[in-house]
Parts: sequence; structure tokens; C-alpha cells
Amino acid sequence: MVIKRKFFIETYGCQMNFSDSEIVASILSDDGFESTVEISEADLILINTCSIRDNAEQRVLRRLKNLQSLKKKRPGLIIGILGCMAERLKEELLEKELVLDLVAGPDVYRDLPKLISRIGTGQKAINTLLSEEETYADITPVRYDSNGISAFISIMRGCENYCAYCVVPYVRGIERSREDASIIREATVLFENGYREITLLGQNVNSYSWVDKDNHTTGFAGLLDRVAGISPLLRIRFSTSHPKDISDDLLQTIARHPNICRSIHLPVQSGSSRILDKMNRGYTRGQYLERVAAIHRFVPDCAVSTDIIAGFCSETEDDHKETLSLMKAVGFDYAFMFMYSERPDTLAAEKYPDDVPVEDKERRLKEVIDLQQALSYQSNERNKGKVFEVLIEGFSKRSKEHFSGRNSQNKVVVFPKTENQPGDYLSVEIVNFTSATLIGKAIL
Ligand code: SAH
Ligand code: SF4
Ligand code: F3S
Repeated sequence: MVIKRKFFIETYGCQMNFSDSEIVASILSDDGFESTVEISEADLILINTCSIRDNAEQRVLRRLKNLQSLKKKRPGLIIGILGCMAERLKEELLEKELVLDLVAGPDVYRDLPKLISRIGTGQKAINTLLSEEETYADITPVRYDSNGISAFISIMRGCENYCAYCVVPYVRGIERSREDASIIREATVLFENGYREITLLGQNVNSYSWVDKDNHTTGFAGLLDRVAGISPLLRIRFSTSHPKDISDDLLQTIARHPNICRSIHLPVQSGSSRILDKMNRGYTRGQYLERVAAIHRFVPDCAVSTDIIAGFCSETEDDHKETLSLMKAVGFDYAFMFMYSERPDTLAAEKYPDDVPVEDKERRLKEVIDLQQALSYQSNERNKGKVFEVLIEGFSKRSKEHFSGRNSQNKVVVFPKTENQPGDYLSVEIVNFTSATLIGKAIL
């Protein structure tokens, strides 16, 4: 019997990174590796990393320190960094972090088997080339950490929006879309294998565009239409939409398909038009509010969530208050909220001083978080007494007597278990709630 070498992957950052780790798992499995969830028995440890904020990078550097002792115990162990930090820091990582043997950027995962085979005694391997074409379209991801119900499908890579604060365009390269047919194929196979929810992923999904050999272009609305047509039992989500180009055409497509989820993540970043301009976001406060109104017009039961940055360069108290007032005006259902973290080489780092004192950043972030908590609570309160169709994902984390699932608006709904199975849809009436969860009972 051949003993297979084992790999362990740990993933940080956004959903794109989690999706990439599934591609890496597929490439390594084809190369004779076997995955393990026990880090202590791994021959190869890969850490797929994020550079979006400084604290994301610091976490990984601390993790590498932890791994030193493991390496001492197992001298043959290979440790590698993948993803955005690999791309941003390149050789510097190998020079400074002696525990590392391998550094590979997000576009070279096909090269991993070659890079790994090159690592011998004392040798290190690195490849951080970015590609203009790579989309890994033909690789079937290994869903090693899946509940068997929900899966991500990457539909594009890279970003060319160059928001002033953001490192993504530098570490992920130019925007490129994946062939439509390969996306439809992957979604169809997932559905046939029992999956019931698919999230289409890209940094800016609205600019998805694939031109086929007959010069026919498929945009994001067209792609969604086709994925939604696979089966009414397959739920479709997508992330992330950029407010500057979420079109009426897209909203009408969502309205036409009950299985496209009533939930749009629309990062606003700030409520001040002056700050939005400095951030290079391409829309004003008024334009953002107009797009939210369009969402409610075309898809009345749609939830809207967002991302907010507190304390961007030159942000005044008045700018901050505009963010709070915009949050109230929209009534976001949930939000991811961050303190501005300057990233080297971005437009903001080159052009604007990071001049909001850290105490102000912290206080503003706290005010944003407190307000959002109240808004999330109100949003859940509005749901009391309503009946939702819930896709059961599994047992609740707290109790084996309860199922946990989500409604179309992406809210977690917990309710006493029934005879059903994960993957089934059930009507659930909401009887109670917290700011994070809806609590219900099944209507049988
Ligand atoms: N492509 C997506 C988001 C990518 S990053 C989009 O455009 O919406 C996820 C979120 O991280 C961003 O929406 C932003 O709110 C936050 N973020 C990005 N760079 C940041 C920085 N330098 N400091 C703080 N937060 C940042
Ligand atoms: Fe970053 Fe802006 Fe691209 Fe989002 S759209 S990844 S925030 S540059
Ligand atoms: Fe982080 Fe890279 Fe995603 S920087 S947010 S893992 S694209």
C-alpha cells in the first residue's frame, strides 16, 4: 500500500480565499496528497492568507511563530504561505520567516506540485507571478470543509477598482471572468450531488463578463438567470456587489427568480460624499441611497447589508455623523465594520496622511457597531410573526434538538428539529429573536 503524504490547509480572509483553498485541495489531491484535519499528522501545512488590514497579517505572523515547535519535532515538515500575503510580501517572507519553505501567490496554485517537489534539504520555493487569464475554470474544487448543502463558486478573479484604501488590486491582479459554461456545469453537478445553495463569488460580481467564440457576451444578470434556471430548488446568492454598477437589469433578474436570494451585500464604506470621493468609490451618498431605493422598488422583500470603514484619512466628526445617518436611513440588516488600516503602496498610503487619531477611530467604530446592533435588532423585530421558507443546513451549534438554517434574506433561523433532513426546505414562523438570530417553529 502506498502511504500518501498528508496536507493541512488553514484559511484566513474572505470567501474567495476559502474557495481558493478548495482549488488547492483539488490540485494536491490529484498530485497524490491526502487531506487531513489533524495538523500534527501533516507533512505539508499551507496557510492561505489575507492582507486586507494589518491585523489580518499580524495574526498569520503569530501563527507562524506557533508552528516553529512543530517543525522542530518534524524536520521533514513543509510549511507554506499562500494567498494575498504571499503576493504582497514575496521574498521578504522567506527571508524573515525562517520556518517557511514555500511562498505561492493566488494565481500559481497549479504550480504547487512542482514547487513542493523542488523543496529538498534546506531549499525553498517561491512563485508569486500574477496571471491575466488564470480562473482555475477546469479544476473541480474539493469541498473538504462543507456541510454538503452550501457551496461557493468563484466566477471571476482580481479587481481593478482601485479603492484608495484597498490592497486587493495589488495582490489579486487584474479582473478576469471565468467561462460561463464551466460555472453552469459546476453548479449543475453540485445540485445533482445534493447541494441546495450556491454563492457566486467575485470582488465585484456586477462586472462579470464573458465573451464566447461567437462574440456573444454574457453579463452578470445573464449568468444569474442561467444558474437560477438549473432548478427552483437551488438557492443562489452572490457577493460582492459594487454600488456604482448594480443595475436595474440585475434587480429585475432577481425579482423574476424566487430562488435568487432576497439579500444584497452592498458595501457603502462611508456616508459622506467627500470621503467616498477620496476613497475613489465612484458614487456619492445620494447615488448610493438611490440604488437602495431601486432595490426596494424591484425586490421589496430584499435585505441589504454593508461594509463600513471608520476613520479613513481626513474623516471629520461631521463625515462620521453622515455615516451614522446613512446607516439609519437605510436600516441595514447587518454589517461588517472596520477601523481604517493603512496598507502600504495603496493610493491612500501614497496620497493621504493616516491622520485620524486612533482613539477617534476606535470611538467612531464603536458608535458604528452600537448603532448597527440596534438596527439589526430592529430588523429582526420586524420579522416576528412572519413565516419564512428556511433551508435546513444542520443542527444548531448550541443544541442537537434544534435545526439551524437561513431564510432567503440570509438570516439565521433556529427552530426545534423535525423529521426533515438538512437540505430540505421548511416553512418556519418566527416567534422570538436576538440581534443575531431568529427563533422559530416549523409549520408542518
Ligand atoms: N470587493 C469587496 C470587498 C473587499 S474587502 C467590495 O468592494 O466591497 C472587504 C471589506 O474590507 C471592504 O468592503 C472594506 O470595508 C474593508 N477594507 C478594505 N480595505 C481596508 C482597509 N485598508 N482598512 C480597513 N478596512 C478595509
Ligand atoms: Fe478593494 Fe474596492 Fe476592489 Fe472591493 S472593489 S476589492 S474594496 S478595490
Ligand atoms: Fe483578504 Fe485577499 Fe480576500 S486580501 S479580503 S483574502 S482577496
